[in-house]
Amino acid sequence: MSREITIIALKYNPSDETSKPRFAEYKLPETAGMTLYIALTKIKTTIDHDLSSDFVCRAGICGACGMIINGKPRLACKTLTSEFKDGKITLLPLPTFPLIKDLSVDTGSWMKNMNIRVNSWIVSTQKTDISKFEKKIEPKVAEDIFELDRCMECGLCVASCSTAIMKENFVGAVGLNRVVRFSIDPHDERNDADFYELIGDDDGIFGCMSLLACEDHCPKNLPLQTKIAYMRRKMVMV
Ligand code: SF4
Ligand code: FES
Repeated sequence: MSREITIIALKYNPSDETSKPRFAEYKLPETAGMTLYIALTKIKTTIDHDLSSDFVCRAGICGACGMIINGKPRLACKTLTSEFKDGKITLLPLPTFPLIKDLSVDTGSWMKNMNIRVNSWIVSTQKTDISKFEKKIEPKVAEDIFELDRCMECGLCVASCSTAIMKENFVGAVGLNRVVRFSIDPHDERNDADFYELIGDDDGIFGCMSLLACEDHCPKNLPLQTKIAYMRRKMVMV
């Protein structure tokens, strides 16, 4: 027999002057293999049409469904309700990002600003001839780049980072990961001094307090702390 679960979600619309932050409680029957994506969809279609939360892929790929689930930043579509033995799940929007409504936050603007801030693109004086194959690189280097490119900008590392919560302009593990990704790409002609100009300050590589929460919560299991330590060591030697 299925049990009843209780989902408690923050409700607040900052663009509505009459809205006040409050918790709404929803009770629903748990189904086999139920994820929080399924539970929230059920709530939105049958109990509260006004509840807002974000989803796109439902498969841990797009990074849209990050939220604070019983105190931890996680992806709702990859979280089974059966993990919570007492059947009680409290949901909050991710901190650090502007709140749109309820559980929905604007990670896109934050990520756009971060990508501009760390110049998250190949910098090269070479002209690209798209009729020709790209310059070959060593398979191991390509593998290392692809590994870091798996980041889906979900923002969980940012939401779990004390520095990011305290410092508005901190680029976060996601931004430092981008810099490492381009620093190891042979197509990119920038040197360590160029990267120092971008992240050699307290809003960049020296702002990290090494609390490791970014790596603990990254759903892609990216080696964020190893990469941050690698880049910090390079930056102190510039
Ligand atoms: S590094 Fe991991 S936690 Fe951070 S944005 Fe990328 S995928 Fe999400
Ligand atoms: S909906 Fe895409 S990662 Fe959860």
